[in-house]
Amino acid sequence: MPLLNPYQVQLGLYRDHFPLLQNARNKNAIHYLDNAATTQKPEILLQATNYFYKNLNANVHRGVYQLSQEATQAYEGARSAVARFIKARNPSEIVFTSGATESLNIIANWFGHEVLDSKSEVIVTMMEHHANLIPWQQACSLSKARMVPWTPDENGNLDLNILEKLINSKTKVIAVCHVSNVLGTINPIREICALAHQYNVTVVVDGSQAVPHFPVNMEDLDCDFYCFSAHKVFGPTGLGILYGKKEQLEKVMPFRLGGEMVEIVTFESATYKPLPARLEAGTPNFAAAYAFSVIIDFLKSITYDSIYIVEQELKAKMLEILDRIGGFRILGNAEEKVPLFALIPEKMHPHDVAQVLALQNVAVRAGYQCAMPLHRYYGAENGSLRVSMAFYNNQEDLDALEEGLKKAQQMLKG
Ligand SMILES: Cc1ncc(COP(=O)(O)O)c(C=O)c1O
Repeated sequence: MPLLNPYQVQLGLYRDHFPLLQNARNKNAIHYLDNAATTQKPEILLQATNYFYKNLNANVHRGVYQLSQEATQAYEGARSAVARFIKARNPSEIVFTSGATESLNIIANWFGHEVLDSKSEVIVTMMEHHANLIPWQQACSLSKARMVPWTPDENGNLDLNILEKLINSKTKVIAVCHVSNVLGTINPIREICALAHQYNVTVVVDGSQAVPHFPVNMEDLDCDFYCFSAHKVFGPTGLGILYGKKEQLEKVMPFRLGGEMVEIVTFESATYKPLPARLEAGTPNFAAAYAFSVIIDFLKSITYDSIYIVEQELKAKMLEILDRIGGFRILGNAEEKVPLFALIPEKMHPHDVAQVLALQNVAVRAGYQCAMPLHRYYGAENGSLRVSMAFYNNQEDLDALEEGLKKAQQMLKG
């Protein structure tokens, strides 16, 4: 299938590239609005994966034979492609992991074991996904450091003036998401980093919900660490990206130990290779890395500018729907947000609404969205109903959602 140009993207032709969205299920196509959980895959990802296993499959960094060399080239080529994609200064600043969760665990584990002590403080925002919360809980419990919550305002915005009051000489790290997976808020990472660095504080950014929607630039943001998962960016499962500034990443204690990350091994000890190998013990997901490099080209052909235009329209239409039908409170009304809406239904349980939508072939997520403290903070004790969109969603998806929400109101409110 030929790649698309921005004009075609805006016409909605890109949807044809996603086979699952064309599948008839119970005679109805699925209306997939759970993109924050994972995104659908374009045909080109299937082709790239197929191509790799048919033509390039051998373990990387291990063989002197041609095939292993080619597999290694494909893997390292993917690393360079990711570095260019997020504007890292050097490919060695990119570590491939199994996902954002592993990436964040690597950093928090290092902090817990080697950086924090009983006098340290760790600032974590109240809007973090459990993946950027629980590893810090453990790091603090291990080191006896103190966790300090940075809470958002009623619209879901983080206030830099509050951060300025929270930071002090004990602060060692700030853990913050680029985009909240509940509120959709786009946080001011550049400004957070500028403030943090005045106090020599490390900033760890969870970019899982940002990269599917807009370009990220490590040089510009100037964060110390940045993580995301390929499967949320139309790419393969089982692949995560951990970016770290070279001088910071070099200090990180390997979380996993084993083959291919070592230089000299005696029975009692081992010396580790330089970056990025020292943080990639064992066989990496090289096929996924290669396939993700193809997705990067796919995104380039679509362009983030086109994605932005489509998503702004989807967002506006969603607000119109909620206005029309009433009865759903939105968690998070930040000016700067991605097309993601966590809804609190009036007099209905989010799970019941999701069930009614499922009967209409509308896929959304109900629950705490792996952000239980945030739901409690906003008094959403039953969790929320999350509608999260991607650039391939269209009017039919929104119509089906609107019908489904109305049906839920008729059935459940009595
Ligand atoms: C903001 C955020 N961070 C981290 C994660 C964890 O990603 P993964 O499960 O791919 O490791 C998610 C997934 O939902 C997320 O939304």
